[in-house]
Amino acid sequence: MRTVTVGVLGSGTVGQDVLNLIKRRESVFTDLGVKIEISGVLVRDVNKVRDVPPGTRVTTDPGFLQECGVVIEAMGGVDRPLEMLLPYLRSGRPVITANKALLAERWDVLREYALAGSLYYEASVMAGTPVIGPMSTVLRASTFTRLQAVLNGTCLYILNQMEEGRDYADALAGAQALGYAETPPTLDVGGFDTAHKLAVLARFCADGNFPYSAVQVEGIEDITQKDIQDARAAGERIKLVAELERDGTGWRATVAPQRLPENHPLCNAGASRNALVYEGEECGTLIFAGGGAGGMITASAMVGDLLDWVIGFPGHVPLH
Ligand code: NAP
Ligand code: HSE
Repeated sequence: MRTVTVGVLGSGTVGQDVLNLIKRRESVFTDLGVKIEISGVLVRDVNKVRDVPPGTRVTTDPGFLQECGVVIEAMGGVDRPLEMLLPYLRSGRPVITANKALLAERWDVLREYALAGSLYYEASVMAGTPVIGPMSTVLRASTFTRLQAVLNGTCLYILNQMEEGRDYADALAGAQALGYAETPPTLDVGGFDTAHKLAVLARFCADGNFPYSAVQVEGIEDITQKDIQDARAAGERIKLVAELERDGTGWRATVAPQRLPENHPLCNAGASRNALVYEGEECGTLIFAGGGAGGMITASAMVGDLLDWVIGFPGHVPLH
């Protein structure tokens, strides 16, 4: 039996469920000849009550990172996680992350580690609904033409709740209570989280160096109850839609609210569900749909990434 030491950064909505799911899947790791040992969990406040397996070492001292074989990052932010992960990545060890802001905004630094197969980030887009896996593997045989997607659970939840008559601020508070929203939630409602995710996806199907700054972004803050009811009266629904398509010799990437017909595939996504319509010349039109926010569904992708690493699969390699 091989012992793998895992360091976890963050024990909030996602981090706690990662720890619980690793514990729950103990026998699956054992079947692969591996014993997972959590060497430490980094937090800001050790006195917070947490739902984690008994005996978990929760600390504000990142020193434990030096000794671990894999790091799982579920802390959020950009500069702080980058600073902590870089020395670790430089030493050739793998990182599993759900942090699309970090991936989108610091690709200048992270790309080389992704190309080397050291970065695992299925959870960063559509949480536990696998899209990065297929886009980084089998879908490469087909010529990509266009994608259209609903990628943010918070906006989806708010717009759905507003359709039921709830006001915007109350609906946002509901999304925060469910653990869907980013800190600060402007990242969600301003469209930036969706733009982060679109930039991550674009690197698998359009351009391996696709810059986050190339995404044109508009959020849902100005959507009123009247806009929503007008759309409903016309048999349409308002969604925050991410789109990526060819534009001459380059690519056009946008995030903006759109009115879509009620029977559009992107309208079938319920509460926190995300959906993505992928078009390729040879593969035709594919639809991915499923949960896109929440602790356990995100943890399922991160623990799946850990299993991939244990089995020997590389991380998610973008286009060269
Ligand atoms: P969260 O509930 O706010 O948890 C963040 C955790 O990180 C907390 O445990 C916090 O410590 C710790 N932390 C934050 N900054 C820190 C610092 N500077 N030093 C030490 N510890 C720090 O956030 P979350 O919802 O779990 O999200 C975590 C990551 O997953 C983010 O990148 C997010 O975008 C991504 N993600 C989230 C979801 C979702 O549905 N929530 C889905 C997919 C991806 P304390 O507990 O002591 O405050
Ligand atoms: N804040 C994000 C959302 C979490 O609402 O979709 C999942 O990435």
